[in-house]
Amino acid sequence: MKGILVSRLGASDVLEYKDLPEPVPEAGQVLIEVRGASVNFADIKARSGGYHLAKKPPFIPGLDIAGVVLEVGSEVKRIRQGDHVIAFPASGSYAEKAVANQALTFVVPRRLDLVKAAAAALVTGTVTHMLKHIARLEKQESLLVHTAAGGVGTTALQVARALGVTEVYGSVGSPWKEEHARKMGAVGVVDYTSATYGEDINRLTDGRGVDVILNPLGGATVERDLECLAPFGRLITFGELVAGPSTIPQGELYKGNRSIHGSSFGHYRKNRPGAVRDTMATVIDLLVNDKIEVFIDTCFPLQQAPQAQQKLEDRKALGKVVLVPEAFYQGKF
Ligand SMILES: NC(=O)c1ccc[n+]([C@@H]2O[C@H](COP(=O)([O-])OP(=O)(O)OC[C@H]3O[C@@H](n4cnc5c(N)ncnc54)[C@H](OP(=O)(O)O)[C@@H]3O)[C@@H](O)[C@H]2O)c1
Repeated sequence: MKGILVSRLGASDVLEYKDLPEPVPEAGQVLIEVRGASVNFADIKARSGGYHLAKKPPFIPGLDIAGVVLEVGSEVKRIRQGDHVIAFPASGSYAEKAVANQALTFVVPRRLDLVKAAAAALVTGTVTHMLKHIARLEKQESLLVHTAAGGVGTTALQVARALGVTEVYGSVGSPWKEEHARKMGAVGVVDYTSATYGEDINRLTDGRGVDVILNPLGGATVERDLECLAPFGRLITFGELVAGPSTIPQGELYKGNRSIHGSSFGHYRKNRPGAVRDTMATVIDLLVNDKIEVFIDTCFPLQQAPQAQQKLEDRKALGKVVLVPEAFYQGKF
């Protein structure tokens, strides 16, 4: 099969398109024909060094796919050959075929577009897990989504709205993305690179601040978020896009019953795969019943994985970037 291999860590040009051995499913695994593989920021970190769950080279990158089941192992239950699935493969996703453990493979109805399903799998799972299970966001509460025009960001705006939350704010680091964040559901947008974004959120909320913040930035923004986190608020930190340490004034937390939670959906998938099933059932319901719009910036043919990752790295993408194997590629989307 054709696929992308990372033989050494480095810039996007280390991604090589080549002939690779087909993965063979073990007893509890399924073999999947990949119809779409999502490009995530974690893939860039895995390729360049620094992703906490990364494999050592050589490896096939990528975390989530949608496709059609070609073969099932002898111990697989509930999944059959020919089923359409979303999966988090064990073998890497930037390839024509992948194997996934049955616990991390989820059957979807055939009417669901597999490219959209691939775009949505990891980001929608991540956001649903954070909003429902960690932050326990309620309808009447407010939310701030940082990097709101990106893959996780646009999905968070959409999932929050689907959960009935109307007071949803966004932040962007590139001013041209503000319009997109509004289009995807933000009622107000601030610039997270500005020293005053906390005050800006307080102004937008008449001084109340927000009940939940999704922060993939890290660094100094964690402390700055506390300027606009309401009493009883929950700050979820789930990435490190901005370099530098975070200083957390603990007195600012306990006095207002505010809390900071860390979240890694990958760590959950690895260590508590059973708990992911509930989240993925919600994800499939959101997708199949058109409760969220998964915004795809560009579909690239698999061979163009370097260009696809570079677009994300250069901050030029809105929403999701997806790779499609050449045999199924139907244009940019
Ligand atoms: N913990 C988890 O379970 C989990 C799961 C999925 C993703 N994540 C994290 O969520 C974040 C977003 O992931 P994603 O795949 O959806 O990416 P993305 O949001 O589509 O792209 C990243 C966005 O982050 C901003 N950014 C800030 N610093 C950047 C930098 N140095 N290089 C490139 N972009 C930068 C850019 O937005 P602006 O132009 O607006 O600044 C860019 O659009 C990442 O930190 C990722 O690691 C965590």
